[in-house]
Amino acid sequence: KKVALIGVPMDLGADRRGVDMGPSAMRYAGVMARLTRLGFHVDDVGDLVVPRPSGVAGQDLNLKHLPEVVEVNRNLAATVSEKVREGYIPLVLGGDHSIAIGTIAGVAQHYRNLGVLWFDAHGDLNTAETSPSGNIHGMPLAVSLGFGHDDLVRIGGFAPKVRPENVVIIGARDLDPGERELIKRIGLRVFTMHEIDRLGMSRVMEEALAIVTNGTDGVHLSLDLDAVDPHDAPGVGTPVVGGLTYRESHLAMEMLAEAGVLVSAEVVEVNPILDVENRTAKVAVALIGSAFGEKLL
Ligand code: ARG
Ligand code: MN
Ligand code: MN
Ligand code: MN
Repeated sequence: KKVALIGVPMDLGADRRGVDMGPSAMRYAGVMARLTRLGFHVDDVGDLVVPRPSGVAGQDLNLKHLPEVVEVNRNLAATVSEKVREGYIPLVLGGDHSIAIGTIAGVAQHYRNLGVLWFDAHGDLNTAETSPSGNIHGMPLAVSLGFGHDDLVRIGGFAPKVRPENVVIIGARDLDPGERELIKRIGLRVFTMHEIDRLGMSRVMEEALAIVTNGTDGVHLSLDLDAVDPHDAPGVGTPVVGGLTYRESHLAMEMLAEAGVLVSAEVVEVNPILDVENRTAKVAVALIGSAFGEKLL
């Protein structure tokens, strides 16, 4: 049992600075000790190099900082792929959610039928054409499914990385019109807050796990901390009211651990600048503990 921690201090995919400090915040909150206590051999690879924002968003305002985001995700895909080859579970510490493009590209090189559990208040299913912001952190799930700019979609040399029938979103409560259209067109299963309220997280996770394990060879966890209610996770760049409770999010991670299918994970959008006493990174690290098998008894 080996975990490779990979920090990606990326904030070029988002509008607000500060999420580049996410990896430090989660290390400070004790992610290494937490995993070591669970019996994992943990190697901290350190942080990938991320270019600083130049002050201008680049040529294409529908795809802000595209060349830099492509470069970082290429490097991330290579690092993740190497670690999987060496037998590690990669745990990528973000950074904004655009880094899911690189993580999934690296993992999918080894798991050609990858299932994805995407926890998020948002869909992250925009393309340059549908994005209201031009921020690439609103696009990574679309890119992984094969929709979007070629430079992003082709990272790793093949596309798509995952198929809609192997992907679920959990916790959604803020979708853009183009995202709704894509969800319907490709038949993506989205467990909205409405369904979590009605069915309960236990039933939602049973259904979600059934989908992401059906005919797949491994499951990737993409955990955007804005899935959690801002009351418990205030330190995120794009908070949305009405999110998952602390208990609901832990139950989800615990059920994922019990399923024994996790092959890679990333924890993103932690912004200590907008936080209260590093609360969000602490929640993130506690959720990582549950996802990797922590139990009270
Ligand atoms: N849907 C909005 C956009 O495209 C917000 C995306 C927020 N994404 C995130 N990873 N926090 O800009
Ligand atoms: Mn070692
Ligand atoms: Mn989000
Ligand atoms: Mn997201």
